[in-house]
This record gives sequence, C-alpha cells and structure tokens, in this order.
Amino acid sequence: EPPADHVIVLFGATGDLARRKLLPGLFHLARAGLMPRRYRIVGTAPAAEALTDQGFRTHAQQAVARFGRSRPEGPAWEAFEAALSFGAADTGAADPLMTAVREAETALGGEPRRLFHLAVPPVAFTSMIDLLGTTGLAGNGRVIVEKPFGTDLASARELNAAIHRVFDESRVFRIDHFLGKEAVDNVLALRFANGLFEPLWNREHISHVQIDVPEHIDIQGRARFFEGTGTFRDMVVTHLFQLLGFVAMEPPVALEADALRDEQVKVFRSMRALDPAHVVRGQYTGYRDEQGVDPASDTETFVALRVEIDNWRWAGVPFQLRTGKALAEGRHVVTLGLREPALRMFPLDTRAAADGRSNELVIDFDDPGSITARFLVKEPGPSMQLADADMAFDYSTSFAAQNSLEGYEHLLLEAMRGNQSLFTRSDGVERLWEVAAPLLDAPPAVEPYAPGSWGPGSIDALVTPYRWHLPDRR
Ligand code: BG6
Repeated sequence: EPPADHVIVLFGATGDLARRKLLPGLFHLARAGLMPRRYRIVGTAPAAEALTDQGFRTHAQQAVARFGRSRPEGPAWEAFEAALSFGAADTGAADPLMTAVREAETALGGEPRRLFHLAVPPVAFTSMIDLLGTTGLAGNGRVIVEKPFGTDLASARELNAAIHRVFDESRVFRIDHFLGKEAVDNVLALRFANGLFEPLWNREHISHVQIDVPEHIDIQGRARFFEGTGTFRDMVVTHLFQLLGFVAMEPPVALEADALRDEQVKVFRSMRALDPAHVVRGQYTGYRDEQGVDPASDTETFVALRVEIDNWRWAGVPFQLRTGKALAEGRHVVTLGLREPALRMFPLDTRAAADGRSNELVIDFDDPGSITARFLVKEPGPSMQLADADMAFDYSTSFAAQNSLEGYEHLLLEAMRGNQSLFTRSDGVERLWEVAAPLLDAPPAVEPYAPGSWGPGSIDALVTPYRWHLPDRR
C-alpha cells in the first residue's frame, strides 16, 4: 500500500544533503514504486539561492546522475521531474513558497499531506520552524528534522520547545540515517525472532560490545560544517548512540513506534554520564591545513570512548565505541564479545586464535551487510587442535539486492507512512546530551593521529583487557 498523497517541501534543496542523498533517494523510491500515487516535491532555499522550476529540475537531474543508483532518464525520470517545482523561502516574505505549495496542492487535488524536510544547518532550524508556524503552512503536516539536533542540552531543549510550538511530537521526525540501515531493523529481527540469540544477549554471556564506525574519507571539503561540529556531535551522540540503543534495548512490548522508543530511551537513561577520562579525542595530521580550518583548531576528527550502561542486563559490560575520519578503512561493525565457558577445557596452545577473539557475534552494517557468528571448531586431524570458524549470513547472497533501501530512502518512506519507529524522540535526544555533558564541559585535548591509521595509540588503554578489533570484511 503506497503512502497517502503528499506534497514534500524540501528546505535546503540546493544544499549538499539534498544533492547527495535526498533527491537521489526520492527518485529511487519513485523508481521502486514506493512513492505515493500522487505527489509533488517543492524545493526551497533562501531567496539568494532561488531557482526556477526548470533550474530545480536540472539541479535534481545532475544530483541523481552523480549520486543516484539509477540514471535520470526515460519515463520514470520524466514523471519524477514533472513533480518538481521551486519556491524561495524568505522569513520576511514567504510568498513564493506559499504559492508553490498551493499550486502543488491544487495540481494534486484532494487533501494531500504536507511533509517538510528541514535539510538545513542547525542555526537555521528555528527560523524555518517559525516560518512554518506563522504562515500557517505547517497545518497538520509532518516535519523531518536533520541531525545534529542541537549542540548541547540547552540548545536541544530550545529546539524542541521551538518545534513543539508548531508541531506536536507525533508529527516530528528527527532523522538519523543510521537507523534506516537494513541491518538495524535486522537487529530487532535477530534478537526478538530467534531463540538462538536473545538468550545470550546479556551480561551473563557477553563480556563487551564494540561499536566501530571508522571512516576512510576525510572531511571532504566540509570544513565549515565540521569545524563547528566535530566527530563527537556529528557521529557519536547521534549515529553511534542510536545504534547502541537498538543493540542494548529490552524487548519492546510491541513493534510500534512508542513501544520501541520507550525501550530506547530507557537505555539512554541507564547510560552513565560520560567520564572524560574514558574518552580519547583525535585529530588527523593535516586537518589543520585543510582549507577553511583554523590552523590552531581543537576540533576532533576522531573519538573513541567507553560507555557503561547501568541496568540489570548490562551492568559491568563495557561498550567501546570508535569512529573517525581518514582512518585505515571505512566500516560499520558491531561486535558482541562472548564470554568463555566456565571452565577452560582446551588449553590456549591448542587454539589457532589464542587471543580469545573467536567467540563473537559480528553485525556488519555496511550496505548491504552481514551477520557472522565466530566460534571454535576442531581442526580435522589426529590431534585436538581448535580453529576459527564462521557461521555467516550475507544480505547480498541471500536476498535480491535491488529490494533493499538505503538509510535515507527507508526513512523518507517511513516518514510518509507516518511511522516514527526509526526516528528519535525529544526525551531521547535530550537525555543523550545530558549523558554527553561532562565531556562537552571538559573535553580532553585532541591527540594527533596519522591519516590511514586506526587513531591515536592511547585508545588501547581505554578498553583493556579487551582490544579494538575489526574482523575482516566478508
Ligand atoms: C553523516 C555525517 O551523518 O554520516 C558524515 O555527517 C558521515 O560526516 C556520514 O561521513 C556517514 O554515513 P554513512 O552512511 O556513509 O556511514
């Protein structure tokens, strides 16, 4: 069943995110037959960046050609293109935008839903929201808000208050594209649909959890955004903590939005406030020479940290998190390290992997992703020698890849369906800023690391007796 008819208003339509993700994502949904039967997409931007309707179509076509999964051509593209129009937004005079939205609605007829996507920097959020309120455009529409959601607890609270003056929480979709990755939904399936895994998913059987999202790319010319944000706000308090919420949550009473988010928020509430002594901030050598970066910049491009969750399921199990730019590889991996059985029956020298790595469950979130259980088996032969073995599930070989949606595609679709399950809630984001506060108040100095490395050497001490360890890519 396709979503109800929609007018989607894209704020920041000329920006980077719209070009890289949103326009290509919407076109992919259209090609996959997942858009509403009738829809219009109205692009908007400040008057200084205004485009004509035709200019916006060309802009979208170039974006899809460059970043999309299929070529912008043929009847599918023509139909999509015909749904695009543009109306400049100006806090002073909202007329071009209002006109464009009304025209789009008239063209559709009936009572299409409005969906506003605020793909704008945090400083611009409040004025956009106010504009939607004062012009009455907000109506009973829904709003998608991009991350980072505020920069600390106070600003997140202000932002939530500003939003709630115009939209009640049931119409607010705070987007975190990591939650749209197939493997995140699959964590729910893995845990709650199988007798094999959930019984192990606790401190009795799991000794530590690693959430590792190294990136190979550097800041890619995004100095202006990055200098004021840094890796902690860009990646940790958002993507990594959200993943942690799904990995660590209790079984929800139902697979519906508030039940899921209640459990997620409970995890955040049980997270101990960060101890700056358990955090390493790094900066790659050469960052300060990038164009637009302060030569004395203290902005981190890397963070590794240890997080404690003070609840019955996880007490005493360290969650070790790492992410950064310009690292050796780009990966998205969650590893659950399993405890050894009570008695060591096989001496260490009978094992190929004597470092105890083989007892683990590895969830790889790379698109399309995989899940691997790594364990020990007996090597064939006359002596009792153990070796590593894998039991692996791969998305790419198990299912037709063309059905899978990328993070943004999945979430745009859920927002049109009105399903908030994979969107963050106001109490959750505020709690995460509370957890982050001690670190933001007293950040440790940044430590340099070489591009292409795994970050500063000091991160090893953070996780003793465990190790940072990434299984080979499948
Ligand atoms: C974005 C961050 O939210 O996520 C980027 O702003 C980062 O800095 C990106 O590179 C990573 O997303 P993905 O899906 O490519 O891992």
